[in-house]
Amino acid sequence: MSLLIDRIGELVTHDGPPLEDAALVVEDGRVAWTGPARGAPAADDRIDADGAAVVPGFVDSHAHLVFAGDRAAEFAARMGGSPYTGGGIMTTVAATRAAGDDVLRSNTRRLVEEARRQGTTTIEIKSGYGLSVADEVRSLRVAGEFTAETTFLGAHVVPRGADPDEYVALVTGPMLNAVREHAKWIDVFCDRGAFTGEQAHEILTAGVAAGLLPRIHANQLGPGPGVRIAVELNAASADHCTHLSDADVDALAGGDTVATLLPGAEFSTRSPYPDARRLLDAGVTVALATDCNPGSSYTSSMPFCIALAVREMRMTPAEALWAATAGGARALRRDDVGHLRVGARAHLVILDAPSYLHLAYRPGVPLIQRVLP
Ligand code: NIG
Ligand code: FE
Repeated sequence: MSLLIDRIGELVTHDGPPLEDAALVVEDGRVAWTGPARGAPAADDRIDADGAAVVPGFVDSHAHLVFAGDRAAEFAARMGGSPYTGGGIMTTVAATRAAGDDVLRSNTRRLVEEARRQGTTTIEIKSGYGLSVADEVRSLRVAGEFTAETTFLGAHVVPRGADPDEYVALVTGPMLNAVREHAKWIDVFCDRGAFTGEQAHEILTAGVAAGLLPRIHANQLGPGPGVRIAVELNAASADHCTHLSDADVDALAGGDTVATLLPGAEFSTRSPYPDARRLLDAGVTVALATDCNPGSSYTSSMPFCIALAVREMRMTPAEALWAATAGGARALRRDDVGHLRVGARAHLVILDAPSYLHLAYRPGVPLIQRVLP
């Protein structure tokens, strides 16, 4: 079956500048042709975009969707002046452990569907609210029902009452062994109040030895060794990157690790935004993701993150769209999504707008008209 999407007002493929008055043909779920609407080949089916913009589906490379309960009261207290420390993670761990599989599954489904309605066609999902062998396994089983991009985050925090050394031994031993068949990635929260650089290095190295691919939460709450460890271990991505030294930026610029910025977290914790311009100007590959979780960033909206990146982080609209699509794909080491060049998966969004600029220009407005597939 082939499908022609024609009368596209503006088509963003990431193969050169956006095309005006364009068309795109899908065959067997892949992009088979793009070009001027006038030269488009015939196809079995047709969608008339009627002047709307078409962009690649968003790639949300960082989300914590498997949990129960919420922390609205914690958010309200923060807006009243309390700082974010990550201490609320154990509140969500308790609610998640107490929830049945069906509740975890339906909560995750609700968020995946919510994200999709906002144009997300690829999403990474982390565990990290179980923190016991059984609860991490079931979190990853649930995650795996919705995405191939599953991440083991047993090293989210040391559970209350546990000894840190014993917990690291559990994560790198029996827990890793039990989850390895259910996870593609391994992640560690390397920050104040979570795991040290040494622990993060040990945990990621153990994950790699077990066949998982490394990524990391780094330099969110303060400066630290996380970003440099990420580059040293050739992690696909270092996420947050809010507090970076010049040496961190140089390390990122010299390696293959993507800097994934999560402006929803700074918005929801009322923190200073990461310096995206400094990273981009140094030649670092930047991705944008939601960090969707009940504590620091309870949004599943990539358009919202694009708007924040443009307004608050001085990314251009073009840079922000690239980071939310191709950048996310790089952060997942994927080349089949995040762009619409011939051969890509036909994961795309028809906007309810004539240009992708509207994603930042019209914040908070539902601009997603249709999502494919
Ligand atoms: O990425 N920083 C660590 N983990 C999450 C927040 C988790 C929570 O507060 O529940 C984050 O921001
Ligand atoms: Fe996170």
